[in-house]
Amino acid sequence: MVKGSLPLFLAPMAGVTNSIFRTICKEKGADVLTTEFVSADGIMHRNARTRGYLEFTEEERPMGVQLFGADPKRLAEAAKQVRDWVQPDFIDINFGCPANKVVCRNGGSSLLRDCPLLERVAKAMVQACDPLPVTAKIRIGWDERSVNAVTTARLLEGVGIRRIAVHGRTRAQGYSGYADWEVIAAVADAVRVPVIGNGDITDASTALRRLGSGVSGLMIGRAAMANPWIFTEVKHAFEGKPFVAPTLMERWDLVLRHCREEVGVRGETHGMHGMRGRLMAYTRGMPGARPLRASLSKVATLTQLEEIIGGHLDSLGSIDPLDTVHGGEPEEASFASIEKRS
Ligand SMILES: Cc1cc2nc3c(=O)[nH]c(=O)nc-3n(C[C@H](O)[C@H](O)[C@H](O)COP(=O)(O)O)c2cc1C
Repeated sequence: MVKGSLPLFLAPMAGVTNSIFRTICKEKGADVLTTEFVSADGIMHRNARTRGYLEFTEEERPMGVQLFGADPKRLAEAAKQVRDWVQPDFIDINFGCPANKVVCRNGGSSLLRDCPLLERVAKAMVQACDPLPVTAKIRIGWDERSVNAVTTARLLEGVGIRRIAVHGRTRAQGYSGYADWEVIAAVADAVRVPVIGNGDITDASTALRRLGSGVSGLMIGRAAMANPWIFTEVKHAFEGKPFVAPTLMERWDLVLRHCREEVGVRGETHGMHGMRGRLMAYTRGMPGARPLRASLSKVATLTQLEEIIGGHLDSLGSIDPLDTVHGGEPEEASFASIEKRS
């Protein structure tokens, strides 16, 4: 039975959603991709590292660049530069980042406490980028006493924001507790622009439950880190088709490909070091994950990784590496990677 369908968005994640990972997710069924958040000030200073965050391939389209900052003029100018440099399909504004380093400079979720400034920022960017669409990503409010997503979304719609992704948590929640999909549904009901629902989609059944919330798309973050096949799984569920989870061998093949590509771009030392956290995510749900993680936390070369994988497969004895393995539940994210980035 066909259940209905919604486009799937890969959530922007600092330190995670680079071109290599985005391409993997696209191959597995993600429809719309966005860069991780990029500092408007970094763009203005023509910082080389910042420039790296903007790179994407034609295969990744439709592709957005997410910017953060607090100054309307600088954000507008940065958006224009990004448009001219890399010609994205849309520019997204981050009104959701909870990290202290961003918030104390009035960026990210801090703007949820200052609606007039949020409106000025959005308006300046829409005007600067016209006709390129500008979209926004918000949280539902600063804290539980000030949940204002409906008001915020109406303001954003009023100044020409073309799509709004809503992460159903407050800034105060960080990544704890649950996303409030009632508030997300209220936002979808309150504005005419498409609203993309985000928060705690971990598999096909959580995605199917959100079909009734009135949103125009679903955005998936942490679950994709452990299991990029989640996009295939959800799409199959929307189409009423059975989904066969990847085998352990297929999962390891993907891990190796991801690492090899990172090493190809960043060199072995940086590439493998940067992949350690990602390997922790990839092993969620695998049999014998605990000892595996202990060795992966120290892995430094591709050869070592291949040895660890070989050892893991040998250690499983009676478990068939061609058996399917489901990704586990996402763990709570720490702000560490985000704080490091900004
Ligand atoms: C490591 C990490 C980095 C993130 N970086 C960003 C970011 O750069 N921009 C952004 O809008 N949200 C960022 N987020 C929030 C996610 O986009 C998403 O809203 C959140 O993880 C909730 O979705 P999920 O439950 O599907 O993971 C980040 C989340 C994590 C875990």
